[in-house]
Amino acid sequence: MIPGIAPKLAAPPVASAPQPRHMFVFGAGFVGRYVSERLLAQGWQVSGTCTSATKKRELEMLGMTASVFDATESNLENIHSLQQATHLLISIPPIPGIGDPLLNLNEDLRRTLSHGNLEWLCYLSSTSVYGDCGGALVDEDHTVNPKSESAKLRFKAEKGWLDLMDDLNLSAFIFRLGGIYGPGRSALDTLAKSKSLSQRQKLRESKQYTARIHVADIYQAILASMSIRCARKILNVVDDDPAPRAEVFAFARSLMQRRYPDLITKTIDVKSTGLDYKESIIPAEKQVSNARLKQGLGVKLLHPTYRSGLQSILDSWQLES
Ligand SMILES: NC(=O)c1ccc[n+]([C@@H]2O[C@H](COP(=O)([O-])OP(=O)(O)OC[C@H]3O[C@@H](n4cnc5c(N)ncnc54)[C@H](OP(=O)(O)O)[C@@H]3O)[C@@H](O)[C@H]2O)c1
Repeated sequence: MIPGIAPKLAAPPVASAPQPRHMFVFGAGFVGRYVSERLLAQGWQVSGTCTSATKKRELEMLGMTASVFDATESNLENIHSLQQATHLLISIPPIPGIGDPLLNLNEDLRRTLSHGNLEWLCYLSSTSVYGDCGGALVDEDHTVNPKSESAKLRFKAEKGWLDLMDDLNLSAFIFRLGGIYGPGRSALDTLAKSKSLSQRQKLRESKQYTARIHVADIYQAILASMSIRCARKILNVVDDDPAPRAEVFAFARSLMQRRYPDLITKTIDVKSTGLDYKESIIPAEKQVSNARLKQGLGVKLLHPTYRSGLQSILDSWQLES
């Protein structure tokens, strides 16, 4: 020790209060809301964006801090709760002709995400990035071959988020989701509302394999990824049963006929759509593997098939009524 200079005493350890967990959801739509409601119930702070004042009020009613935000027009400056976020869920899809509108904010985004609180980021992508694989089983190492404009933009967005997070030395998860269904959005809801199939739904009707996932299992995957530090970054989030959509609708119809026959008022006949399939369909046949989701993240699917997923939605109707 140098005479006259007292050794500096190490500061007594201060019991630092655990940082409150704060999820910020860019694009609090179907999945974003589902996740937000559950995290709020777990005591999280949850903030998020939407594109209209009406939706903002709905999010606030859930207990969220909400901001109206159109990524093609606004910057991030006025979204104050973003600075406190420890977790970030990106659910805004790429826009044709524009790309990922958030990534386009570039420097603004980079500055905001480097604030130091961020522990976890998840970008919700799509299995569409694989393109057509001729019905083969594809895992996350399979070469991606996006064919449609939206799938190409999706893949570019995945890469953009991974690169950005690498630059910031933060880790990011990319979830490649199958078709999302859950309470309020399912074959049962389509039948009950007597809605005609959308153009996109009609096009998908002729596919042999359709990857899908119940929103409750997306939520499970999100929770599991938060607690695993060295998981693989890209994960397929799909169930075990890539059944064709016609099979799913037939099952939904049989469920409803048994329990709510009066609710089915119209037959949705895909053959009567008048679409020229040859012109409209880009083939995208594949069976998407969820082995990494199960073995890497340890997720045990609540709804491994559409059957249990639809049954649980129907059961929830009964509870509500
Ligand atoms: N649906 C599927 O089957 C499926 C399958 C695979 C992947 N995905 C993708 O997974 C993600 C979550 O799916 P989801 O079904 O929950 O999506 P969703 O309900 O359509 O939610 C998308 C969210 O993005 C917001 N948004 C759209 N354009 C925006 C813009 N220009 N600026 C700011 N916000 C914008 C929407 O705002 P508003 O709330 O105001 O509308 C909404 O909150 C999406 O990226 C979706 O494309 C979906």
